[in-house]
Amino acid sequence: MAGYILAIDQGTTGTTVALMTTDGTLCASVNNEFEQLYPRPGWVSHRVDDIWRSVLKGIRGVLRRAACRGSDIVAIGITNQRETSLLWDRQTGEALNDAVVWQCRRTTEFCESLKAAGHEKLVQGKSGLVLDPYFSASKFRWLLQHTPRIAAKLKAGRVAAGTVDSYLIWQLSGGENHVTDVSNAARTSLMNLKDLSWDSRLLDLFEVPADILPTIRPCAGDLGRTRNVPGLPDGIPITGSAGDQQAALFGQACFGVGDAKCTFGTGSFIVMNTGSERLQSHSGLLTTVAWQLGEGGKPVYALEGGAFICGAAVQFLRDGLKMIRHAREVEALAREVKDHGGVEFVPALTGLGAPHWAPDARGLICGLTRGSQRGHIARATLDAMALQNADILLAMEKDLGRRMRPLRVDGGASANNLLMQIQADVLGRKLIRPQLIETTVAGACYLAGVGAGIWRGTRDIRRIWQAGDEFRVTLSAQARRRRQDSWRTALERTLA
Ligand code: G3P
Repeated sequence: MAGYILAIDQGTTGTTVALMTTDGTLCASVNNEFEQLYPRPGWVSHRVDDIWRSVLKGIRGVLRRAACRGSDIVAIGITNQRETSLLWDRQTGEALNDAVVWQCRRTTEFCESLKAAGHEKLVQGKSGLVLDPYFSASKFRWLLQHTPRIAAKLKAGRVAAGTVDSYLIWQLSGGENHVTDVSNAARTSLMNLKDLSWDSRLLDLFEVPADILPTIRPCAGDLGRTRNVPGLPDGIPITGSAGDQQAALFGQACFGVGDAKCTFGTGSFIVMNTGSERLQSHSGLLTTVAWQLGEGGKPVYALEGGAFICGAAVQFLRDGLKMIRHAREVEALAREVKDHGGVEFVPALTGLGAPHWAPDARGLICGLTRGSQRGHIARATLDAMALQNADILLAMEKDLGRRMRPLRVDGGASANNLLMQIQADVLGRKLIRPQLIETTVAGACYLAGVGAGIWRGTRDIRRIWQAGDEFRVTLSAQARRRRQDSWRTALERTLA
């Protein structure tokens, strides 16, 4: 089939819209950043209109860049920042409040109260997730309690709730389809991992009414058709959708049990395919759905650990500390010094995620001396990004009871060769970087292609994926231990 697959990657700091030809070549992409709102310390919001505007701008931009017409698009795939939660009006499509972003800590107190009341086991057993403000359920509850005039809207049946995938499919289908895909639903704390449906006990616990939630659908298949979208003809099928980390796992062709990837984005997320097994972690990791292909398809599960701040630590050097003007300058600055010089940066800027789960932890820069330079802080930032991932991977191996296969890396910051070498060294494992590092957007295209019948399934995608550079370990075991010890000392101070 000739034509293009359009992918929308609605991320935390911006939206990327890309086009892939039906032979699997990514031929154009545009990114539009939007404003992050920090209404209080620890809170993060997005204006819902900003999200939608960035998507429309991206569609216009990518069509122009590729000199392609809307009618050339044969399928649409969506991938998105997960857990971010929003409410909108079913009649007008208007957002009822700002979106509560996955990084936001505003529901910490409520989650702590559920923990104190002994509900964590129930939540973990059913949803695979720990009790933390990260996930959507407590965010929906907050929105339902703090949105003006919500009671009347609820009574009139006008409230729709969803994660970003669900909102985008709603908008793209002109309000026709209120659906979410199973990989996004798995991040709400409201879905039962076993039967892939909303769980009544979890809905009760988080006080979320079932009738405001979307219908759960597979990641590849018929999710709706475009209607009244500026720049696109009506009727283009939306055939793929997955949370960004699951899309990246798919885009990395991690189709075998034990295959894992690490995506370096705003946060960094390591996800490992566990096949049909829902592996319960004893090390602070999450059990989640990787994907389900087609109606009635067998779900593939995964184990996941994420550090909330990864690339965002470099943005903090740029926007908060004004140490650099562009994120890409960090590599050159870090290369000015031979190592971190005793400086540690624990980027707990929105608490700490896996495997620590400490929503109240705050960031820390320590170990400064008169000889410390900007280069040391830049190097400590890159080291921290890698050391956080190493902590997660080692926890994963503990759960698995064996060493993992070489880790596949991707995402914007994986282009940074120094960071990749540091990652291989502090982890003590080989890394493989594919030729195409935009695996999230690629994964959304592949899912849409599979959903539209352009590709027959994972076998076809395996043929498209191509390995690129490898990063081998160059640090001795003793030096690695010393580096990890220094990091852990700093980490413990943020947890104290
Ligand atoms: O779980 C949050 C994650 O989906 C956000 O991803 O790429 O926007 O950092 P990203």
